[in-house]
Amino acid sequence: MHVVWLELKVLNKVIGEILKVWAVANQKGGVAKTTTVVSLAGHLVKRGLRCLLIDLDPHGSLTSYFKEDPDSLEKSVYNLFQMHQFSIKHEINDLIIHSEVEGIDFIPASISMATLDRQLGTQEGKGLVIKKVVDLLADEYDYILIDCPPVLGVLMVNALAACTHVLVPVQTEFLALKGLERMHHTLNMIIQARRHDVSFTIVPVMFDRRTRASTDSLRALREKYGAELWQNVIPVDTAFRTASQKGLPLPIMLPSSRGAKAYAELLDNLLNANKQSDLKRVTNE
Ligand SMILES: Nc1ncnc2c1ncn2[C@@H]1O[C@H](COP(=O)(O)OP(=O)(O)OP(=O)(O)O)[C@@H](O)[C@H]1O
Ligand SMILES: [Mg+2]
Repeated sequence: MHVVWLELKVLNKVIGEILKVWAVANQKGGVAKTTTVVSLAGHLVKRGLRCLLIDLDPHGSLTSYFKEDPDSLEKSVYNLFQMHQFSIKHEINDLIIHSEVEGIDFIPASISMATLDRQLGTQEGKGLVIKKVVDLLADEYDYILIDCPPVLGVLMVNALAACTHVLVPVQTEFLALKGLERMHHTLNMIIQARRHDVSFTIVPVMFDRRTRASTDSLRALREKYGAELWQNVIPVDTAFRTASQKGLPLPIMLPSSRGAKAYAELLDNLLNANKQSDLKRVTNE
């Protein structure tokens, strides 16, 4: 009996750790945050894993990507911030939209979210709204990916409090490196405030090996951010734009494209890192 109980305890622990929550964040705009969320989700569902995407950007690019209009949606992430924390459990399913891609669901954004910072100010408990959502949906998804707005406010703070890992896409050009320093500082501040491990991976994106700006800035990145930097790059690929017009993740629209293959490698790298950190945790306990 005791052995069965112990086994159950271990099983529960493993189940509890299956869900991974990745936030894709950078305070700079237009650096492929939304593209990264959608592309990774495309690969995850191709591998049979269920994904929930949460659009935390009031501009709602992720929502528009999947052909919903953030200007006219009645329900969005905004409503989560208006609910009492106990009613989230009952209402959460009304907010989830099934995308046309089997296995990808999302909670949409709406323009009203732009007012949240002013409305909520420093209201207590509002930094953990998304964490609550993520905890409630832990049994229904294998991965939850959060698309962040390019500003540090209540929404980004929520994403960073809810996630287990942060991905920071950075354009391979010098101005972007400056922005990365700011993001790096923000992340460190938040990680310290949480007193809890959250790791991050810097992902060089829109790399064009024909340009000096790309190769030089990649070198600078490698010199400055060793272990936190993914060693490969996401190349410039015009197919990303076509995929977004069609409302499909590139790995599903054109798996043989350079861009889709690069995101597959990134996902392999992230999954391997996950396995290793799980192993480390289990052997330490
Ligand atoms: N590797 C790439 N090659 C070419 N174009 C890309 C690549 N990645 C993203 N794009 C394009 O760059 C534009 C900006 O990308 P995206 O919307 O993903 O950035 P973002 O960081 O989410 O922007 P925002 O801060 O406005 O939310 C889009 O038109 C997208 O299709
Ligand atoms: Mg975006």
